[in-house]
Amino acid sequence: MATKLLLTFSICRLIVTVGLTLDPSELVLLGVDGQLSVDPTDVETASLDFGRLTRATPPLAVLHPASAQDISQLIKAAYRSDFGFTVSARGHGHSISGQAQPQTENGVVVQMSGSRRGSGRKPPQPRVWPRERYVDVWGGELWIDVLRSSLEYGLAPKSWTDYLYLSVGGTLSNAGISGQAFNHGPQISNVHELDVVTGIGELLTCSEEQNSELFHAVLGGLGQFGIITRARISLEPAPQRVRWIRVLYSNFSAFTRDQVYLISLHAEPGSQKFDYVEGFVIVDEGLINNWRSSFFSPSNPVKISSLKSNGGVLYCLEITKNYHESTASTIDKEVESLLKKLDFIPATVFTTDLLYVDFLDRVHKAELKLRSKGLWEVPHPWLNLLVPRSKIADFEKGVFKVLGITISHPQFIVNQGRIPKRSVIYFIRWDHRSSAVTPDEDVFYLVALLRSALDNGEEIHSLEYLTNQNREILRFCDDARINVKQYLPHYATHEEWMNHFGNKWDWFYQMKMKFDPSHILASGQQIFTPTFPSSLKMGTCDVILIGMEVLVTPTAPTDRLVLLGTAASLLPFSFRPDALDSKAFVAFPTAHLQAQAGLAT
Ligand SMILES: Cc1cc2nc3c(=O)[nH]c(=O)nc-3n(C[C@H](O)[C@H](O)[C@H](O)COP(=O)(O)OP(=O)(O)OC[C@H]3O[C@@H](n4cnc5c(N)ncnc54)[C@H](O)[C@@H]3O)c2cc1C
Ligand SMILES: *[C@@H]1O[C@H](CO)[C@@H](O)[C@H](O)[C@H]1NC(C)=O
Repeated sequence: MATKLLLTFSICRLIVTVGLTLDPSELVLLGVDGQLSVDPTDVETASLDFGRLTRATPPLAVLHPASAQDISQLIKAAYRSDFGFTVSARGHGHSISGQAQPQTENGVVVQMSGSRRGSGRKPPQPRVWPRERYVDVWGGELWIDVLRSSLEYGLAPKSWTDYLYLSVGGTLSNAGISGQAFNHGPQISNVHELDVVTGIGELLTCSEEQNSELFHAVLGGLGQFGIITRARISLEPAPQRVRWIRVLYSNFSAFTRDQVYLISLHAEPGSQKFDYVEGFVIVDEGLINNWRSSFFSPSNPVKISSLKSNGGVLYCLEITKNYHESTASTIDKEVESLLKKLDFIPATVFTTDLLYVDFLDRVHKAELKLRSKGLWEVPHPWLNLLVPRSKIADFEKGVFKVLGITISHPQFIVNQGRIPKRSVIYFIRWDHRSSAVTPDEDVFYLVALLRSALDNGEEIHSLEYLTNQNREILRFCDDARINVKQYLPHYATHEEWMNHFGNKWDWFYQMKMKFDPSHILASGQQIFTPTFPSSLKMGTCDVILIGMEVLVTPTAPTDRLVLLGTAASLLPFSFRPDALDSKAFVAFPTAHLQAQAGLAT
């Protein structure tokens, strides 16, 4: 009962809040099982993301869905609406540039992750199918929870991201890449089936066999074709433990050559390859000393400062080998024989051994540390690039130049050494039928410049400085014809998007016209402009008058309009929000008078 009341109240507030750009009956009649909220905290949360680079226009409302049907109803309302509003799925909001936020003034956010709080109906829990070796999960499920549920059956997904507090729908809309990708492909290559609510509100199940066009479009599709409400994710028997090894190089080409060699083993039996291959660049000793304490070195302690030959830069290859306690006796031998083939600096082998789940969840530890120092909720001008193998050396040189790493200034970028500045990983095995875009070569690197801006008065830590460096890096790649592709792409113009998709663009566009013809979904990606009527005349809308005088007052803190109904009147009305100060007349169709009156009393 309390929930119903709350819901009714939310809807009433929503009506009065959005009444002018949205025909309120559309939302009143929704009657969702979840919760439609205009709570300032919800609205505020939905207008921020991990990047903290910009603050979006606050959404009109936030839907905490209880089911795919809730989402379907919302999108149907948006699609059929005469006035129209956009719908943006938000996973855990870990985008950098507002991709999960509405780009329009009249947007509703569907909060996919964390909707199990409070009372009322909740999205379904993960369901593991042990014999079939897959798990069905809600689109907003966080990967950490997918892992926990699967482990109850001794199973685990195969392909990961470095960090697990990301949503299934969010990473599947991009690719989902970590050091396992050379073996298993990215996360989008490890999905059997999806339930998707399209841009016309249809709930469809899709897979290789069924609605395959939609299936391929949605994977890596940047949220453009539908909202993923269920994903069926492939599982394997979960390893128990992980041997985690780091070795150092001072020679970049030796480093990348070894990476290429290691991933070329992907077809070999499990005992004859590593399970995870990444790497990163160490430009200051702070970083290495950070992790040295938790890694032990079997040989004599290594003096890191004595190793630097290439202008103070070292490269760290990071590899793991999974094992089961029953095979613990052979793990040392297997690792040793694999390491023998590599060309790292002798005696720089650092090893640690931990539970599989602790390895997968390793970044969360760093998160907690950063949070405690107030260094997590800061701007993150991250840049992620897929670089073709043939150009990785040119890329390296150019980027070092931009970043100011030179022999004479070895310590120049001291960007806090938190999350590795660059993780260079590398993989093949992409299914090119998906929407995900990669360089033309079979083998390419993901180079991640994961930097945080600090407001500490030092120019080189400022957001502006780092953003300019990112721009310069992209310009350098352009000039040097290194055909990089942005991962988690962000572009401002139509031309850049067409260029990003290259020969996939025509198909991508066709799929958009088919599954989201009004461009309602994921407007924060800024690929397509919504085409529903009200966006064409944003801010002005003619309302037929049926008897209600409404006082309009801007309310703090959201600055949106709250309308309070009073007496009846009959006047034609034309509305421009920015032209309003304190009083205006609007009218709602008779059907809504009751709701209005309900609110006023
Ligand atoms: C600390 C950190 C570490 C990371 N590590 C990795 C990594 O190792 N590998 C990697 O590949 N990525 C990594 N990422 C990036 C991550 O994959 C993206 O941020 C991704 O968008 C997932 O975040 P999210 O679930 O919060 O999605 P959001 O940011 O909420 O959404 C991203 C996009 O997907 C859309 N979307 C969200 N949910 C759905 C859904 N159910 N259906 C359809 N569309 C949807 C949104 O509208 C938006 O356009 C990392 C990010 C952070 C912050
Ligand atoms: C770096 O490694 C490459 C390939 O392994 C080798 O050809 C080159 O001579 C090495 N350079 C230095 C300075 O050792």
